[in-house]
This record gives sequence, structure tokens and C-alpha cells, in this order.
Amino acid sequence: MKADAEALSPEELLEAEAAVDLPEIGARDRYDALMKVVTNRVTVRAFDPDFEVPREHFEMILEAARHAPSGANAQPWHFIVITEPELKEKIAGYFVEEQRRRAKLKMKFPTPDYRGLATAPGFIVVATDFRWVSAFPVLKDDTSDLNRMYRENAERILLQSVAAATMSAHLAAAALGYNVWWITAIGQEAAQEAMKPLLGIPEELSVLDIMAFGPPAKAPYKRWRKPLEEIANWNRFDPAHHMTGEELEDWIQTRRHRVMFKDASKVD
Ligand SMILES: Cc1cc2nc3c(=O)[nH]c(=O)nc-3n(C[C@H](O)[C@H](O)[C@H](O)COP(=O)(O)O)c2cc1C
Repeated sequence: MKADAEALSPEELLEAEAAVDLPEIGARDRYDALMKVVTNRVTVRAFDPDFEVPREHFEMILEAARHAPSGANAQPWHFIVITEPELKEKIAGYFVEEQRRRAKLKMKFPTPDYRGLATAPGFIVVATDFRWVSAFPVLKDDTSDLNRMYRENAERILLQSVAAATMSAHLAAAALGYNVWWITAIGQEAAQEAMKPLLGIPEELSVLDIMAFGPPAKAPYKRWRKPLEEIANWNRFDPAHHMTGEELEDWIQTRRHRVMFKDASKVD
């Protein structure tokens, strides 16, 4: 197979997609190469604004998203690459506005500085179409509680599907050497309504998040992770892993801001 995907004809591309390159089970070198990318995917919230992401990198990143799994293979995602600085400024403005609103509402969420968004040389808006929910197991035209339960799960399937594609894109960006920023703080109606016409996004669609990436403005730091034994359970859920409501609240009050904005080595 040719190394350069761009050099492949459409037929060759189909053939390449159909062929699955099966590694030997337990191939450590492939795992290690993947983990290098996984552990180097680190969030930053300000970038080098003078860097220009080549179009090819955008395409490579979205190519990774394209191969993500999705419920019913519906692939319910749309990606809008933003390259015009004025658009970036406008969108960043909605987030800065949201930052202010949260401060006023006294949400006490340690909201980051969204001004850094306008500095992102890589800027991709991720949208979905909630009508795809009907591609998953739901009772058609039914308003029963039973169907509400199915619809709720169908929405989760949809969101997990888009998250899978978004994660693939983030990993591809990390593999290319970029730092990334996954931003979801746009759920609120006002920002959605402002952003959709600005980007020509049809009314039925929803903007889910923004993927920003690029070289970092300053040295990135690795954030704290729960130890493996705390998240892994074998055959039965380990009751020691269950937090009471109080413990959870305490974690949010005392630890959340530290794990979000501090170097892992400075978090006990
Ligand atoms: C689903 C999801 C939503 C996120 N939303 C935001 C967001 O709205 N704003 C933000 O600054 N960071 C957001 N982040 C980034 C997280 O804060 C970040 O991934 C986390 O602190 C761990 O840091 P790391 O990415 O460097 O490992 C989000 C990440 C994910 C996966």
C-alpha cells in the first residue's frame, strides 16, 4: 500500500479501508506508540496565534474522526473548520460572555479564561443532528414513559458516538504534535442560536463542542489522573470505589479546581 493517502485513487482508498491490518495480539510496540499519543494529549487554553495549521492537517485530523465507531454506524457528526480570524473572534466572544455570566450566577465553577480560544490556529466546531436519535432503538411516535426511557438512552448513544469521533480527532491532533482544548461550555441556548446562523448551520442541528488545537502559548502541564486501581473493577463493582454524596461534594469543593488547573506533580 502507498504511504501517502492523498496519492490513492477512490478505488484504492475503498480497498485500503476494507483491508484490516491485524496486529499480532499483544503487540507491545503498537500499544506503546498509541500510549505515547494518548498520554501526550494535553489540554492548553492559549495557543501560538501566528502558527498556521496546514489544510492537510485539518484533513488528517478529520480523517481520524471519520473512522470512529458510532451507534447503528449512523456517523451523526459534522465538523466545521474555522479559519477566518473574525469568525474565531466572534465565537470566542460568546465564551467570554458565558464566563462572565457564570461569574454573575455565582456557579462557583472554576471557569477558564476563554479569551485564549481566539488564539487557536486549529479551530473546529463539532455539530450533531439529534434527529439521528430515531436511528437507535426507540418506539416511533410514542409519548409513553417507556419510550422516554428508550429516547434517553438513544440520546446517550448519539452523544457517545460524537464523543468517539471527537476523541479520535483529538488524538490525531496530539499525534501531529499539537496541544488540544475540548470546549463544551456552549450548551446554552443563546450561544447556539448566535453561532448557527453565523456558520450557516441548519436550525435542526446542535453545536456540541469546539475542538481547538495548536502549538501552546506556554509550556503545557500534565494533569492529575486517578490511579488505575481506583477506576478498575473486576467481576464485581468494588464498594470502596463508591463515593457518598458528601464525599463527592467535598471533592468538588476542595479538589476540582486543583485537578483542573494544576500540574499533576503539585496535586496530592
Ligand atoms: C467532554 C469534555 C468537555 C470539556 N469541556 C470543557 C470546557 O467547556 N471548557 C474547558 O476549558 N475545558 C473543557 N474540557 C477539558 C477538560 O477540562 C480537560 O480535558 C481536563 O481538565 C483534563 O485535562 P487534560 O485534557 O489536559 O488531560 C472538556 C473535556 C471534555 C472531555
